[in-house]
Amino acid sequence: MVLVILVGMMGAGKTTVGREYARRHRMRFIDCDHEIEARTGVKVSTIFEIEGEEGFRRRETQLIDELTHESDLVLATGGGVVLNPDNRAIMSERGIVVYLNVPTSVLWERTRHDRNRPLLQVPNPRERIETLYRERDPLYRSVADIIVDGGRGNPGGMVRVIEKAI
Ligand code: S3P
Repeated sequence: MVLVILVGMMGAGKTTVGREYARRHRMRFIDCDHEIEARTGVKVSTIFEIEGEEGFRRRETQLIDELTHESDLVLATGGGVVLNPDNRAIMSERGIVVYLNVPTSVLWERTRHDRNRPLLQVPNPRERIETLYRERDPLYRSVADIIVDGGRGNPGGMVRVIEKAI
C-alpha cells in the first residue's frame, strides 16, 4: 500500500518519471494539473485567467487532500504545491515524497516554449525560474523523503534511483 508523491519545479519531469514508475509497478498514475483540467474542462492557464492564482491554488489544495487518501498511486503534483503549509503537512504525513531536483538551466530549456504555464508568461521567464527555484528548493527539501538528481539521465534511470531508495 504505497502512495508516491513527486514534487519539484515546472519542467522537472514529474509527469514523465511518475508515469514510468507507475507503469513499472502496476500502480495508478495521476497528474494533479491534468486532473484539474479534466474536472473543470479547461486548461490550467484558463483557470489562472478566470480565477487568478488563488482560485487555482484552492482547487489544487482540495485535490491534494482528496487524492492523498488513496494508495497504490503515483501522484505528480504541480510545481507550486509546496507553497501551502497544509499541503506540505499532508504530503509528508500520507506519502513517500520524491523531489526531482533539476538545475535551472535545464528547467529553462524544457519550459521555454511552453504557453500553458501562466507563471512563466512574464517579460523575463528565465529570471522567474531562478527566483521560483530559490524560494521553493528549501520547501521541496523540507517535505522530501528522497531527493533525486533529475537533471541528467533518462526517466528510466531516475525510476531506478527511486526504486532503490523506496
Ligand atoms: C505551477 C506549476 C504548474 C501548474 C501551474 C503552477 C507552479 O505545474 O500547477 O502552472 O506554481 O510552479 P507543473 O509543475 O506540472 O508545470
